[in-house]
Amino acid sequence: MPTVVIVVISLHALAAVFWAGSTFVVARDPKFGAERLFRPQMGAAVVAVLTGAYLWRLLHEGGFGPMEQVLLVGALCAIAAAGVQGALVGGASRRLRQGELAGPEAERRMALGERLAAALLAVALVCMVAARFA
Ligand code: HEM
Repeated sequence: MPTVVIVVISLHALAAVFWAGSTFVVARDPKFGAERLFRPQMGAAVVAVLTGAYLWRLLHEGGFGPMEQVLLVGALCAIAAAGVQGALVGGASRRLRQGELAGPEAERRMALGERLAAALLAVALVCMVAARFA
């Protein structure tokens, strides 16, 4: 296997594991700090999406068989998770800092955002690991 694929797929898995794992933890118990983890999570999301797109180019460009279809469902869920997390968690945390949102309402929105993102990331992860057997 070419070295570049090994390096890129490793970076992809590391970023994705941090993003999904920390989202699962905060969705389970918001006391672990949705606000503190938000920036590192968004950083990991950017790395996961960019390396994923590069892997697609390296390994799947031109084909659209069952494996690519399953990978695409996973990728779309991952992009949706980033959008939901950015809008609900990032949005609520910014409005809380600016005094536009009360604490309990901000916490409610952040908890909802983490739970939705966790569900989408669970589907993304299952698709990614199951795709090669499709
Ligand atoms: C837009 C986002 C994403 C894209 C475009 C993408 C794309 C890909 C591609 C093309 C592969 C290589 C498949 C192969 O030929 O072996 C891959 C592997 C993988 N992806 Fe993603 N991915 C994305 C997000 C994620 C996320 C969010 C996770 C975890 C929650 C994830 C976890 C994995 C894992 C664990 C593998 C290795 C699977 C294996 O080799 O068995 N990916 N991804």
